[in-house]
Amino acid sequence: MSQINIKYKGPLQGEISTPADKSISHRAIIFSSLANGKSVIRNFLHAEDPLSTINAFRQMGVSISINKEKNKILVNAQGLNGLRTSDGVIDCGNSGTTMRLLSGVLAGQSFSSTLTGDQYLLKRPMQRVINPLTGMGANINSKEGGYPPLNIKGGRLIAINYQSPIASAQVKSAVLLAGLYCDGITSVTEPGRSRDHTERMLHAYGADVSVKGFEVSIKGIAQLNAQEMTVPGDLSSAAFFIAAGLIVPGSEILIRNTGINPTRTGVIDVLKKMGGDIRLENEREVSGEPVADILVKHSELSGIHIDGEMVLKAIDEFPIICVAAAKAHGTTKITGAGELRVKESDRIAAMAGELQKMGVNVEELEDGLIIEGKEDLKPAEINSYGDHRIAMSMIIAGLTTNKETTVMDSDCVNTSFPGFMKLLEGLMK
Ligand code: S3P
Repeated sequence: MSQINIKYKGPLQGEISTPADKSISHRAIIFSSLANGKSVIRNFLHAEDPLSTINAFRQMGVSISINKEKNKILVNAQGLNGLRTSDGVIDCGNSGTTMRLLSGVLAGQSFSSTLTGDQYLLKRPMQRVINPLTGMGANINSKEGGYPPLNIKGGRLIAINYQSPIASAQVKSAVLLAGLYCDGITSVTEPGRSRDHTERMLHAYGADVSVKGFEVSIKGIAQLNAQEMTVPGDLSSAAFFIAAGLIVPGSEILIRNTGINPTRTGVIDVLKKMGGDIRLENEREVSGEPVADILVKHSELSGIHIDGEMVLKAIDEFPIICVAAAKAHGTTKITGAGELRVKESDRIAAMAGELQKMGVNVEELEDGLIIEGKEDLKPAEINSYGDHRIAMSMIIAGLTTNKETTVMDSDCVNTSFPGFMKLLEGLMK
């Protein structure tokens, strides 16, 4: 099993370029694979999760060629009905986004498919997509309780107005993708605004999509037009460097080309509210997504209460926010974040347990955590639970310990951020 040893080695200084956005990379492959003609995707994220999405569409006959040297991907697709029966089970690996978004696509096909995944994905709830998709007419078999593998028998679907009980971009996207195959208007209403990359990209690929408050509607049966697009950098990956810059004394890091879609910027809001010196520079747009360079300097942080809309906007960043909270003055309380229990790991239990090993006082709540900040974190042997974001967050925590901290089972970093350690080491002067 792979492991990383890490300790304080001085300030982090310099510049990095943020790796491509994972959510947008998945969607770029999905929409290009359903479009008519040749799409070009620049700056794709070559990490395990989005590669699972590429493999899935290749298995269904889409021609996808990767030119790593030129940093571009060519997708040659035959339109919404151009997929063919997969030659075998489709393995989504660790990727919940692949499984849930593909479920929406497969619900509209005239053939049956089976989706499976790794030991962690097999424990993640799929009932949230099974409910609306069966409501539209798909036939989906799962393990008892709505767990994968999923067997999806697609067919003629009917448009629905779905009131989602949770704010989830994956659920919303699954329904909208199925809606492409329905006559008439399919709509999804969420209790809050989840990330809106699907809506933005559907619009760019020529679909008739509209947004009213928390309701998103799509007109089917649609035709998608092939596109040329560039994937912006992933704020969820930049977040590890933002937090590292704030908590490692003497640090100053410029993080270039980072997506700042307003549905994703909770981590910046939270860390600024804690007292973080974070500045956005050179704001611009890349393929319909807002982007900026982020300058971060070491700061004294203070504990705050994080709840409500802020939780949704920072949903993937809680592991690293917990590390910042562990190094802040005073208490940080996170509530309304029960979804963290069903991410790549139970992130509430994982962060509580691992920070406690480092001597931090943490109380686990059903829907969040209470973290007492501490001057010095104790070196420890850390379990990643096979969760990339837990591994990277605890590596950043380890950057502040005076003796080596070991993060076990660290290969999972490759799920979203294969070059993570190299970039981090490049900032150690
Ligand atoms: C994602 C949506 C979020 C997020 C996940 C990626 C996406 O999940 O946590 O990492 O790309 O749509 P939910 O939609 O379940 O909140």
